[in-house]
Amino acid sequence: MNAPTTAAPLLSARGVDVVYEPARGVRIWSVRGVDLELAEGEFVGLVGESGCGKSTLGFALTRMLRPPARLEAGTIAFAGTDIATLTGEALRRQRRGGFALVLQSGMNALNPVRTVEHHVRDVLRAHARPGERWDRASSRDRAGELLAMVELDPDVLGRYPHELSGGMRQRVSIALALALEPRLVVFDEPTTALDVLVQKAVMGTISRLQAERGFTALLISHDLGTVLEATQRTLVMYAGQIVEDQPSAALRTGRHHPYTEALLACYADPRAPEVTLGGIPGSPPDLSLDLPGCPFAPRCPEVRDVCRVIDPGLTPLGPGRAACHVRAAEVGLPVPEVEHVG
Ligand SMILES: Nc1ncnc2c1ncn2[C@@H]1O[C@H](COP(=O)(O)OP(=O)(O)O)[C@@H](O)[C@H]1O
Ligand SMILES: [Mg+2]
Repeated sequence: MNAPTTAAPLLSARGVDVVYEPARGVRIWSVRGVDLELAEGEFVGLVGESGCGKSTLGFALTRMLRPPARLEAGTIAFAGTDIATLTGEALRRQRRGGFALVLQSGMNALNPVRTVEHHVRDVLRAHARPGERWDRASSRDRAGELLAMVELDPDVLGRYPHELSGGMRQRVSIALALALEPRLVVFDEPTTALDVLVQKAVMGTISRLQAERGFTALLISHDLGTVLEATQRTLVMYAGQIVEDQPSAALRTGRHHPYTEALLACYADPRAPEVTLGGIPGSPPDLSLDLPGCPFAPRCPEVRDVCRVIDPGLTPLGPGRAACHVRAAEVGLPVPEVEHVG
């Protein structure tokens, strides 16, 4: 693992709130007060059950939120510039060589009537720098390089998305995301739609590219196993909040947020001598409601009175941080007292 860096982070998000307003009077708080830092070259995982706001956060960080979602509050400093409110050409300038998003389903990201070569040319032309010209020959050369980078044959250039397997489409999506040499790539469940063996191969490619090219990566996945294997640091998200932030290696042992421990219990390490599968009773809360206290309290086997009324916020635990009154008390941190509420 890389030593902690003292340099300014590449990305620093503060107080990010994202709300969906799918209908008049309906407000779904999908990301709630998220603070997040990503160091240059760091490979970070973002894990949590489905519906916890991972994709919404990934979209917010790469400025890909679309209505009915709206960034309600917060700043997103990318390489020193707040990109949260940028629009038009200023945003396009930051995106070029800045940040990119890879989605779960390569088919949805690709246009069914354009060949792979067309897709690459479209990206290069859409983001061309002033004076930069991408003609057929030069964009084909660049497309060939990009395909080789993601381990695809040159003959893929002339194919349409429906002529590619799921794994190949995902490799094309990765190539397109890397075409402008971004410093940050957010991968949103990049292998979830693929067969197990293809998943492994595509994750291997992502890890190799990250190591070789040194971009900062945020890997979003509901699968803790994938995240622990690939990343240096893991963020655990629950009900729109980051509830734990640890070096990935540290998650394999020690005490953690009860939600993290429940996720760990669900994840069976196939190399472990004995495999026990846990489960998490209940489901994440309705995000249209006000959630006082710790959002996990209703499902937490260790819940105390204080958990139901006061949000713990991230505090030191082990080498990282967790948002849990119970764990804070265990390591001797002060925990507010509340009157028993029946
Ligand atoms: N298009 C949408 N319209 C309304 N609400 C949405 C929409 N997409 C997501 N949400 C809300 O945001 C929450 C978080 O969604 P999402 O970010 O996709 O979670 P995850 O990626 O962790 O599965 C969902 O539980 C849902 O309440
Ligand atoms: Mg998602």
